[in-house]
Amino acid sequence: MNGELTPDRMRSVADEFRDRYNPGRVRGLLVAGSGLELEIPGWGFAEEIELKEVLPFALHTLMGHRQTVTLWRHEDESLMVLNGRFHLYQGYRPEEVVAPVRLAALLGAEVMIATNATGSLDPEIEPGSIVVVTDHINLQGSNPLVGVWGTEFGPQFPDMSEAYDPELRGLGRSAAEEAGFAVHEGVYVALLGPSFETPAEIRMVRAAGGTVVGMSTVPEVIAARHMGMKVLVLSFAANPAAGLVDRPLTHTEVLEEGEKAAAKLATLMGLLVGRVFI
Ligand code: HPA
Repeated sequence: MNGELTPDRMRSVADEFRDRYNPGRVRGLLVAGSGLELEIPGWGFAEEIELKEVLPFALHTLMGHRQTVTLWRHEDESLMVLNGRFHLYQGYRPEEVVAPVRLAALLGAEVMIATNATGSLDPEIEPGSIVVVTDHINLQGSNPLVGVWGTEFGPQFPDMSEAYDPELRGLGRSAAEEAGFAVHEGVYVALLGPSFETPAEIRMVRAAGGTVVGMSTVPEVIAARHMGMKVLVLSFAANPAAGLVDRPLTHTEVLEEGEKAAAKLATLMGLLVGRVFI
C-alpha cells in the first residue's frame, strides 16, 4: 500500500482515476482547506470521491477534516476540489502531501488555486482579512522535489522567481474585494508545525519580510510549479501571530474565525472560478 510515489506510480494513479471517474478535461485544482462549502456558478457538482479510494498510501484521519476530492463539471471539462489537504505535521511524507497536485496535473490541470488559514504578522492585517500571496519563505525543512526521480515530472531545479502568477493575483484581489474582504498582499512563511510559533520565531519571520505564517501549501506550490501549473494562493488571516497580542493561541480560535468567514470564502472561490476558468 505505502509504496514509493514514483512518476510511474503516479501515472498509473492518474490512469485509474481517468478510467473510474471519467473527468474529461481537468482544468484546475482548487485546494479549499478543511471547512469550505463551495458553490461554483456555471459548474455542476458531479461527484465526491474519498481520497483513500484514489491515493496509494494510508491516510490518517483528523477530526473535522474531510479527505475527499470533489469533481465539478461544465460540459466535458471538470474542476477538482481537494477537501482537506495533507499536512507535513500529520506525518505525511512530502511526496504524499503533493500527490493530489501531481494527480491533477497529470489529468491536465493548468492552474492551482489554494486558500489557507494563517496567523498575521502585521498588526494592520486584521483577522478576517485576505492576503494575496506574492511569494513565500519555506522554513519547513523539506521540499517535495527531494528524491531520485530525476527530471521526469519537471526540471530538478525549477525557477521559483515568479511562483505566484501576477495575473491570477490580480483576479484574486478583485474577487476577494468583491466578496467583502479587506485585502492585502504579502509573503507567506511556511513552518512545519503543529505547535504554533514562539514569539521569538515570530520576531524572526517578521524581520525576514513575512506577512503571514502557516503550516501548509508551500509543498503543493512547489510541486505545482514543478509541473508547470500557474498558482494563486489566498491566505485568510485567522489570528494575530504569537506574541503580537497578549493571549495564547488556540486551534479553536483559528477554526472559529474560519467558520465566521466560511460563506464569504465560498463566494470568493465561486467568483474566482467564474473568472479564471472561462
Ligand atoms: N501560525 C501558524 N499557522 C496558523 C496560524 C498561526 O498563527 N493561524 C492559522 N494557521
